[in-house]
Amino acid sequence: MKPPDTDKIALRQALGAFATGVTIVTTRAPASGEPVGFTANSFTSVSLEPPLLLVCLAHTAASYRMFCETESFAVNVLAAEQQETAMLFATRGADKFGPTRWHPGAMGAPLIEGCLARFDCAMHQRVAAGDHDIIMGRVIGFSRHEGEALLYHGGAFQRLG
Ligand SMILES: Cc1cc2nc3c(=O)[nH]c(=O)nc-3n(C[C@H](O)[C@H](O)[C@H](O)COP(=O)(O)O)c2cc1C
Repeated sequence: MKPPDTDKIALRQALGAFATGVTIVTTRAPASGEPVGFTANSFTSVSLEPPLLLVCLAHTAASYRMFCETESFAVNVLAAEQQETAMLFATRGADKFGPTRWHPGAMGAPLIEGCLARFDCAMHQRVAAGDHDIIMGRVIGFSRHEGEALLYHGGAFQRLG
């Protein structure tokens, strides 16, 4: 076993061995109402009763301050055809919502069209954890659509099969 502080790239590659889906996490800037969002694969379901989920957000993200202040956010689970959208929302400073079709959820967080599932959440808890915050949401509404999932594995987007 290697100690984790000797080779950060190897640690990142080892963590990337865990295959995940891909989400876009969205909210509205509390001051301006501007929609903001970022691509995330740290999404995890936490509890069914009450319905809780979490995502981890880097302190270095441009949207970090907005997620510190907001009282609501949404998690949009991407379909295989949405790889371009995933890359767009992983690009700092990009016009993310210009080419993206969305509508506001019950508390205003953007719900993106064409996703496999969407979870509209009230902010439940924020926990500082190293260079990320764990953002936990209580699901206040959700939707589910059939389709193939977009996957992320070994540092690359993948499809099933
Ligand atoms: C597949 C994939 C998964 C990602 N997962 C996360 C994540 O879970 N948490 C995070 O903070 N950044 C994650 N990122 C990086 C952010 O999407 C990226 O830093 C983005 O620029 C943040 O947006 P912002 O700086 O405009 O807020 C991921 C990127 C990719 C491509």
